Amino acid sequence: MKQYKHWRLEGDVDQLLWLALDRYEESVNTINEEVMEEFSDILDKLTKNPDYKGLIITSAKKHGFIAGADISQFNKFKNIEEAVNLLRGGQRVFDKLENLKIPTVALINGFCLGGGLELALACRYRVAENGPKTRLGLPEVKLGIHPGWGGTVRLPRLIGVPQAFNMILSGHTISGKVAAKLGLVDAAVPQRHLVNAAKYYVLQSAIPRKIRKSNQIINNVILRRIVATYLTRKLHTKIKPEQYPAPFQVINNWEQVGIYGQAPLEKEAKTCGKLFFSETSENLVRAFFLQERLKNLAKESYFAPQHVHVIGAGTMGGDIAAWCALQGMQVTLQDREPKLIAPAIKRAFLLFNEKLKEAHLVQKAMDRLQPDITGLGISRADIIIEAIYEDLKVKQTLFQELEKQAKPQAILATNTSSIPLDEINSVMQMPGRLVGIHFFNPVPKMLLVEVVRGQCTAEKVIDNSIAFVRKIDRLPLPVKSSPGFLVNRILMPYLLESVQMLEEGVPATIIDKAMTDFGMPMGPVTLADVVGLDVCLSVATHLGRYFHTAIPTRLAALVERGQLGRKTGEGFYRYTKAGKQLKPQPQSYDKPATEIANRLVLRMLNESFACLREGVVTDADLLDAGMIFGTGFAPFRGGPMRYAKTQSIGNPESI
Ligand code: NAI
Repeated sequence: MKQYKHWRLEGDVDQLLWLALDRYEESVNTINEEVMEEFSDILDKLTKNPDYKGLIITSAKKHGFIAGADISQFNKFKNIEEAVNLLRGGQRVFDKLENLKIPTVALINGFCLGGGLELALACRYRVAENGPKTRLGLPEVKLGIHPGWGGTVRLPRLIGVPQAFNMILSGHTISGKVAAKLGLVDAAVPQRHLVNAAKYYVLQSAIPRKIRKSNQIINNVILRRIVATYLTRKLHTKIKPEQYPAPFQVINNWEQVGIYGQAPLEKEAKTCGKLFFSETSENLVRAFFLQERLKNLAKESYFAPQHVHVIGAGTMGGDIAAWCALQGMQVTLQDREPKLIAPAIKRAFLLFNEKLKEAHLVQKAMDRLQPDITGLGISRADIIIEAIYEDLKVKQTLFQELEKQAKPQAILATNTSSIPLDEINSVMQMPGRLVGIHFFNPVPKMLLVEVVRGQCTAEKVIDNSIAFVRKIDRLPLPVKSSPGFLVNRILMPYLLESVQMLEEGVPATIIDKAMTDFGMPMGPVTLADVVGLDVCLSVATHLGRYFHTAIPTRLAALVERGQLGRKTGEGFYRYTKAGKQLKPQPQSYDKPATEIANRLVLRMLNESFACLREGVVTDADLLDAGMIFGTGFAPFRGGPMRYAKTQSIGNPESI
């Protein structure tokens, strides 16, 4: 049998051919041109000489089937034509797979995404592992494109238009169990049964799943038009076509050419090729690589922490401890009295239930999280995170003590939002040991964690802290210890400007809409309410000391009255007991929304340039990454620095 660089071929006693993808020198399988060419060659041989009873396609990697197309090739297309050709080429290869005379099955162990799922869809059968790591989906819209190797055609053919579009338009992934329910896979079975299940389908030539009659009806020209109009209207309530064109294009293609015959495939390749060259896709692909950059920071570090000790079981400490336990760490959680730890344990239980679902996994996570009133964990922990009151003296005393008791190589970290590291560490024997690991609230939802460097923090401590943040599946952003670090420093002037506008009489709903229209996940007035007006006021007061920012009287007045935002049922808006915002009566305002948005965004851009100049982060890309993953800054605009550049407002390269 011929040897291939990326594929391993093996026949077995049952006359089945096993074809395993093992992308050369990569830990994860993705499909690039070379992988596709070799696959095509293998399929040609099988078409000519179908000597086997069946073909089982699998992955030779320890984790996962195929993560999708190799995104690094996206940046290399010279023009639309080249992109379309590559897509058409891939489609033809998958057509070959679909047309093989022998039965074919994709054996899916773990993730199966994008191009990987498109390959699996061209097989006659699919069996997936029924485990927590299995995710199937077509997440292309998250990169500003849509599937281009037949996904928008084969998925609706297989599971019906409504379910398929649910997945394609949102880019959401589903578990093996749900995939089996939808008919996307023929079976979802435990790991130990996977091989037998795959063999069963090819050897028995089981009858492939029948598509429901209703699917054929919905694909009729007239119904297509009606359903497409409905779907487009629904999509408009969530996103705008000028910002996220890909999902609209999928509906449009379907309306025009349906899902049967060759025309839909041609159309798919054409529109997908065009989308590669949209600004949205360029920025989203860039955001993807920025995320990869954060993920790969300190990749070389050998630091493998297992035990985390958290001091302070309040809002932050409690949630940090729970998150670490959820991610497999042994955690001890310390506070002054058991009753102060109890609420954190209760919240942890809810989080574990939500994320882990199964009782035995929840129990294991609970076992990993130990209340620790006396601080027994201090001398055993690999990393100690302090999250007590924001008080310099109290923190100093604590770190003096920790330095004596902790293992010499343990990381000593503070979660402080505002106290300069060099003030806390000034009383320590070895100030280079102190690092900031600054989580955002709510911890389980916020991806970004700032890793804060004081003037004398040791390089190794920074690297190990970054490695720890990766270990608990968060994105580390290295920043310099300066007021507000990066995210709060940039966000606060923007929030204060929105309160200033409220004082000038601009309605809250108009301000918020201007910014959600700009592409922010929520408007600044709502965001202030969600963060808590007391927290906003305290951060603003702190930053005001350094940057002389005026604090709007309305903010201080609301805090004084105890109207702290969502948590008290009233802030700038009012809320139900469950925390749902009660929208005030719609109000009109005579100035254009772009004027409002510009005024607010420019505050962020100004502060961003100041941060870059002062070296709060080392480069403009890291700044954009911080704002996209820390605040949800309109990712399709590429972050504040990219936005400033594309709008000719300022050039970060000149700094
Ligand atoms: P919190 O007031 O909710 O919790 C503080 C906890 O620390 C309390 O349970 C208290 O009993 C405990 N504590 C105080 N002194 C202690 C000691 N010596 N030993 C053991 N436990 C002690 O405070 P929160 O909001 O959780 O903030 C904690 C830290 O996190 C602060 O440094 C704050 O700046 C920072 N932070 C807060 C954020 C927020 O949104 N609340 C966001 C990011 C950072």
